[in-house]
Order: sequence, then C-alpha cells, then structure tokens
Amino acid sequence: MAAQHYTDAGTAPRVVLRFLAAPTDVNWGGKVHGGIVMEWIDEAAHVLATRWTGDVRNVAVYAGGVRFYRPLRIGHLVEVEARLLHTGTTSMHISVPVRSGDPATTELELTTHGLIGFVPLTPDGHAHAVRAWVPVSDEDVALEAHALELVALRGAVERRSRTTPEGCARDGAGTGWSGARAVSHVARSSDADQGRVRPRRRSRRPRRPSRPRRG
Ligand SMILES: CC(C)(COP(=O)(O)OP(=O)(O)OC[C@H]1O[C@@H](n2cnc3c(N)ncnc32)[C@H](O)[C@@H]1OP(=O)(O)O)[C@@H](O)C(=O)NCCC(=O)NCCS
Repeated sequence: MAAQHYTDAGTAPRVVLRFLAAPTDVNWGGKVHGGIVMEWIDEAAHVLATRWTGDVRNVAVYAGGVRFYRPLRIGHLVEVEARLLHTGTTSMHISVPVRSGDPATTELELTTHGLIGFVPLTPDGHAHAVRAWVPVSDEDVALEAHALELVALRGAVERRSRTTPEGCARDGAGTGWSGARAVSHVARSSDADQGRVRPRRRSRRPRRPSRPRRG
C-alpha cells in the first residue's frame, strides 16, 4: 500500500472527514486508540459508499491491511479521506488514508492507512448490485489494478485456508469468497480438540415391546 500513489491527480470519488482527536479517544499510552482510528476509517468509507449509492443501507464486508505508520495525538487535527478504488458486481473497494497534525500548522502527516470493502444492501439485507465506477486517470487505473491484485491475493489465501487439518483441499471448486465452510470446519475441529464433541445421540425410535415369554 505504501508503494502506491494517492494524490489529487486521481479523479476517483472521495470524501474527507475533518475533526479534532478528542480526549476520550485516548489509549493507555496517551495517544489515540487504534480501534478508534479503525472506526473513523469505517465511518469515512460508509459516507463514501452512501454517496456513491445514494443510499445509507450499506455494510462493510471486509477490512484489511490497516497499517499504523505513526501515533496520532490527542488534540491534533485529523483528516480521514475515503477514496473509491474499484467497484465489483456488488462491492466497493475503498482506500482510506488518515492524516493528522498540530492544528496550529497546516502540515498533516500520514498516520494510518486502511482498505475496506462495502456492499449496498437490499431492504431485506441481501447484497445489491453497485453502480460501476470507471477509473479515468493513470493513477486511478494503477490503484484499481492494485485493489484487484489484493482481491486476488485474499482469494488465494481464503482458498488455502479451506483445507483439512491434514492439508488436503476440501473445496475443489475454489471459487467465491465464502469462508463459512472453512469457519465451520475450524469450529468443528477445535471443538473436537478440546473434548467438546457431543456424545452421539441415542435413537428416539420407541423400543419394540418385548414378546411375552412362553411358559
Ligand atoms: C453483505 C452480505 C449480505 C453479503 O453477503 P453475500 O451475498 O453472501 O455476498 P458475499 O459476502 O459473498 O460477497 C459480497 C461482495 O463482497 C466481496 N467480498 C467478500 N469477502 C471479501 C474479501 N475478503 N475481500 C474482498 N472482497 C470480498 C465479494 O467478492 C462480493 O463482491 P462482488 O459482488 O463485487 O464480487 C453479508 O456478507 C453480510 O451480511 N455481512 C455482514 C456485514 C456486516 O454486518 N458488516 C459489519 C457491520 S457494518
């Protein structure tokens, strides 16, 4: 991510949130808590997704690659910029650099960067097709290629994680993103490892009445 160029040369849709880091945002070391910064990343991406779709019903489907470059100080001016990198069938892939600095100066430094994916929802909570965005500038094209490269990498990692404990591939198709199968498999094997496997239930079939003995 650090090797990518995120400048004003891009024409991608973007939103910028600006505010002061509040005393309530503090961590045990006196700086801004990392979880709070991730919340800001999520919020900025949500605003961008809402603007792009024109609808507030959208949710994060993944958040990855959050890099904390330097601490963010309480009282500093914070700028959280969400920028659209790529649209898939239903997903919006959004880059969010966070910059901050002393409000008495105009200098802001990059403190954190995150990538996050959002999906618009139908009223009944299913993924909805998203309006396609077409990159225009060279920078937009390069950043979309970067986003697609990360999608491919995540797909490869998820497919690798769908393995049995013996390392044999479980899902021969290897398509799609759903990790549900891998998760349920992990849950089953960890239950077994910890002796939480339920005893086999007895059949509820009523027993046949035993024949009366012949005298
Ligand atoms: C959003 C939701 C309804 C979509 O479910 P779904 O129909 O099964 O769809 P999937 O999750 O498989 O995929 C939806 C999109 O996300 C993308 N996606 C999923 N996991 C991804 C990952 N790890 N990296 C990149 N993209 C990913 C898929 O590729 C797909 O995009 P595409 O259509 O452009 O190819 C469901 O995932 C959900 O409810 N998630 C919980 C959302 C939530 O509560 N978020 C936190 C609070 S906001």
